[in-house]
Amino acid sequence: MSDFLGIHHLQLKGIRMLSSRLHTLVLFTLIGVFSSFVQANRYEAELDALLAKMTLAEKIGQMNQYNGFWDATGPQPDEGDAKKKYEHLREGLVGSVLNVSGYERVRELQSFVVNESRLGIPLIFGLDVIHGHKTIFPIPLAESASWDMEAIERSARLAAIESSAQGINWTFAPMVDISEDARWGRVAEGAGEDPYLGQHIAVARVNGFQGDDLSAVDTIAACAKHFAGYGFAEGGRDYNRVDVSPYTLHNTILPPFEAAVKADVKTIMNAFNTLNGIPASGSEYLQRDILKGKWGFQGFVVSDWASIKEMVDHSFATNNEHAAALAVKAGSDMDMEGYAYVNHLESLVREGKVDEKLIDDAARRILRVKMELGLFEDPYKYTDKTREAEALYHPSHLAAARDMAKRSIVLLKNEKRLLPLNKNQQKIAVIGPLAADNNSVLGTWRVSSDDHSAVSLVDGLKQYSNHFTYEQGVKFSIGEEAFSQHIIANTTDRTGIAEAVALAKESDVVVMMLGEHGFQSGEGRSRSNIQLPGLQQELLEEVYAANNNIILLVASGRPLDLSWADAHIPTIVQTWQLGTESGNAIADVLFGEYNPSGKLPMSFPRNVGQLPTTYRQLSTGRSTPKDNVFWSHYTDIESDPLYPFGHGLSYTDFKYSKLKVKTLKDNRVKISVKVKNTGKYEGEEVVQLYLRDRVASTVRPVKELKGFKKILLSAGESQKVEFVLTEKEMGFYNAKGEFLLEDGDFDVMVGGGSIDGLTDRFTL
Ligand code: NOJ
Repeated sequence: MSDFLGIHHLQLKGIRMLSSRLHTLVLFTLIGVFSSFVQANRYEAELDALLAKMTLAEKIGQMNQYNGFWDATGPQPDEGDAKKKYEHLREGLVGSVLNVSGYERVRELQSFVVNESRLGIPLIFGLDVIHGHKTIFPIPLAESASWDMEAIERSARLAAIESSAQGINWTFAPMVDISEDARWGRVAEGAGEDPYLGQHIAVARVNGFQGDDLSAVDTIAACAKHFAGYGFAEGGRDYNRVDVSPYTLHNTILPPFEAAVKADVKTIMNAFNTLNGIPASGSEYLQRDILKGKWGFQGFVVSDWASIKEMVDHSFATNNEHAAALAVKAGSDMDMEGYAYVNHLESLVREGKVDEKLIDDAARRILRVKMELGLFEDPYKYTDKTREAEALYHPSHLAAARDMAKRSIVLLKNEKRLLPLNKNQQKIAVIGPLAADNNSVLGTWRVSSDDHSAVSLVDGLKQYSNHFTYEQGVKFSIGEEAFSQHIIANTTDRTGIAEAVALAKESDVVVMMLGEHGFQSGEGRSRSNIQLPGLQQELLEEVYAANNNIILLVASGRPLDLSWADAHIPTIVQTWQLGTESGNAIADVLFGEYNPSGKLPMSFPRNVGQLPTTYRQLSTGRSTPKDNVFWSHYTDIESDPLYPFGHGLSYTDFKYSKLKVKTLKDNRVKISVKVKNTGKYEGEEVVQLYLRDRVASTVRPVKELKGFKKILLSAGESQKVEFVLTEKEMGFYNAKGEFLLEDGDFDVMVGGGSIDGLTDRFTL
């Protein structure tokens, strides 16, 4: 019945839309076609001429990317010796390098290639500039909690300014993988669980890195990754298989990538995972049909680290040669440190097993991006000693990092209103292994950072108070190396607990900073237990027994299981890993210099057994609680998360009223609401709009974020906030990836989170 209705209404609507908006549509289409034609053709004549000069081997060389000869961000291949790499650079068999940065190194390598190779085609230098370069900003998940697109764009912009000053012209960011599973360590690098928020953040980051003019010296090419599905690794175990429905693929996984492509992202990185049985690097469906076909992507696709040859380990390819053939046919343009292309593509073409047109197309895409960056005009334009000296750790970058860090903090609970702290009157105990730490808080994926360059909490507090004393309590027993296998937990040394307890007893209030070490999340850092690692829970409970006026600061790269803390600790603040300015930003929030405004971009589960979880559930046939056991739930725990998506408190209070919904012409709906700051402090609120499509030809989520606005209100001030929903917000993709808009009833909810809000309904 609903299938029938859905399709019928869709057809009617199609006709209605077409007649009313035909003129506008035709005009916009013509303008669009014309401008993409101009854009795409700007360099085509030059590219034709260049490609005509290149040998087959040189074209394949453009598709080959080598890791720098010292650092590595993945397993080192046997073939990876520096001598051979230099030979290949001279022979024009390398198009790009990664992990080479700094004036000296970049200039040395670039001039080697430009002067020694036959055609002197400049290299493109790629690096993981994930959340800052030298000045480290909060981990991306934390930044996402700001819901502040301007601040996020600025963070990427400044990362581009610093990294480009060190010779980098291409970042492997943003990671736009949606994930519903906090066990997966790479949630730290993404925007959380929601594709709508994720799309906006993807665009902000791409714009920040690439700026308005890619050829400017301080803008760099961005790379939306990992295409696609990587965030749905089964069990949250990194690199694991991904099995998702076409519905999830089109409605959850792909939208942030599509948004990045629309924002003109220059490159896409494919992924380590299989998606429904096909390795992403060998997926024609993803790379040719969707990315380069349906979306018309003009940039190039880089593989993930050796992901092409890993298709052999996946048992998808017989050997590296077979993997190379599969990958190039599937649309992977560049092979990252995989040696499959450089070693095998030439013979594959000569033997007629791979069409040379595929090589031409891939090389053209890569060379086009180099031209857009201006590398042909001046291969050394990104290497400027003065700029390098001035840009790194520039005071304005540090100020922006502090601002971004403040905005990323989420106040989860403030029951006794222990916060904000009073500057003069209280005797404060500061406890925990992370409170004096100036390294871990830099977080994961910060390859260019200087170790121990962050402001610790203890240092940050000094500017506000000298009434505090610090005790570590327990320690982390980890090495500092980013790729260590042993970054696991604390020591078994309990001797510091007694001192921490004694300090807590004689203090008015206790600030405890606990959580994960910065290298406990990120790539390869999946966890099957998401509680506080090591002895920290024990420390927390013992200190609580001595003094329950605790403000718990949770530093982590993922949502943790905070159930015990939530049941006992009056005030809990999620401080993630906030980067260089961590301690300053936390102190600003603790003392009320900044009123927290962050909202969770990912649900915090009650325990690991609830994972994966999202507020965007589909209704089951048995979702309503019953007085018997036969409904969809766990018998040993509540069904809802501990802290839901969108949750975050402020030192002030906001009251919502006057929700109004009005349907307009052209399938648009206007929604307005009044928000009043009823508390004592000035504060920012993220006004969130959620929709539910009541009946559709595919079961739709019980709630989906479809609008948000961040507003600033002084105490007592009110503001009317308006949203206009369009077809884009009300429609959805079917299993074939077709976008549908179906008539019917929609529930609206507007509030400061995903659980409570004012509700209404409209009919489309
Ligand atoms: C592997 C990671 O998956 C990817 O995100 C990163 O950009 C590359 N290594 C390069 O370091």
